[in-house]
Amino acid sequence: MAYNSTIIITGGAGFIGSHVVRLFVNKYPDYHIINVDKLTYAGNLENLKDVEDKPNYSFVKADICDFDTIFALMQREHVDGVIHLAAESHVDRSIKDPFTFARTNVMGTLSMLQAAKLFWESLPEKFDGKLFYHISTDEVYGALKMTCPEGVEPPFSTRASSSEHHLAYGEQFFTEDLKYQPHSPYSASKASSDHFVRSFHDTYGMPVVVTNCSNNYGPYQFPEKLIPLFINNIRHRKPLPVYGKGENVRDWLFVEDHARAIDVIFHKGVIGETYNIGGFNEWKNIDIIKVLIRTVDRILGRPEGADDDLVTFVTDRAGHDLRYAIDSTKLQRELGWEPSLQFEQGIEKTVRWYLDNQEWMDRVTSGDYQKYYEDMYSNR
Ligand code: NAD
Ligand code: TYD
Repeated sequence: MAYNSTIIITGGAGFIGSHVVRLFVNKYPDYHIINVDKLTYAGNLENLKDVEDKPNYSFVKADICDFDTIFALMQREHVDGVIHLAAESHVDRSIKDPFTFARTNVMGTLSMLQAAKLFWESLPEKFDGKLFYHISTDEVYGALKMTCPEGVEPPFSTRASSSEHHLAYGEQFFTEDLKYQPHSPYSASKASSDHFVRSFHDTYGMPVVVTNCSNNYGPYQFPEKLIPLFINNIRHRKPLPVYGKGENVRDWLFVEDHARAIDVIFHKGVIGETYNIGGFNEWKNIDIIKVLIRTVDRILGRPEGADDDLVTFVTDRAGHDLRYAIDSTKLQRELGWEPSLQFEQGIEKTVRWYLDNQEWMDRVTSGDYQKYYEDMYSNR
């Protein structure tokens, strides 16, 4: 079939990427979606079982740092758009192994940019109708203060937003014009990649869009991150390692809402612009953890409070950012995107998904998921 558009989605076997791939493959049968993923420990093709046989979906196992392979793929498939999610994404790993983060997040992004640029420049239409969409994080902005007007206990509502339930732990938010102040090797590498993407727009006129999103949660997240790790630990009555005092604040967005935002921005975003994506939904870690314990225990029919003693305060993460809070007013006002789920609904859905998909969790924690690619793709 002749497709109207061919789009590479990098990191499509990861957590957010798999939701973006699923959305695009199902919603746009006239697009050819090519998932390019190296399948690191974080890449799991089992996340995409439900779309792997769709005619408009292809998978290419490749490292984004491998410029020659990426450039050849762009030429062979005549790629019109790139949605770039592939990255090393876990802060704790970046503290132990910063080189891998610089390699993948910085050099890998540069390799993707250069391949797209050279391929598109070789076409008669050049950059017309093309887009390089770079997915980034709010962590590039650094940490916000916890402030609070006199006499008011946080969380408090500070600004009008689309959400009636906006809880904030401070008066400052991450807006698109805020100075970058990354602290972890992860956020420093993402900040660097964001700068490279914008430099390709400013220097070569590349059509780019950048988005910076808050913490995502939902199905298919690798259980090294807070929410899936803790759901699994509560289920198995293992200790919950809370860094420091659990006072750090994160702004949480359901992953499918992020994927919908990516869809809207890919199609309607203004070239050269940056959009912050977030749900105005700040939570202290310790409060989220209490919600997780309550929810898991309720669903499993355990008495209330049965697992409260799993909370174990451990040494704080080095350089642990205190508060993240996204202001997504620009995206909501200019492109009409809004989160669809309240946090309570999203958490309920997420906890139920992990409890219902214990087999997925077992295959991830045992490492069996890494054999799926060989079994599935070796004889294709
Ligand atoms: P993830 O770790 O779950 O998945 C990353 C994917 O990239 C994996 O499939 C992995 O195999 C692939 N990958 C890694 N290195 C690669 C390489 N060299 N070549 C090709 N593929 C490679 O990450 P995620 O949480 O889904 O995050 C996706 C993107 O969204 C990242 O760019 C991240 O910075 C950004 N982001 C994540 C969050 C979040 O809360 N998870 C929030 C905002 C932004
Ligand atoms: P994480 O899911 O790693 O995301 P990020 O570091 O990108 O925000 O962590 C979310 C928050 O939870 C963060 O403040 C660190 C904290 N945390 C713990 O307290 N214990 C844990 O075991 C993990 C993984 C995270």
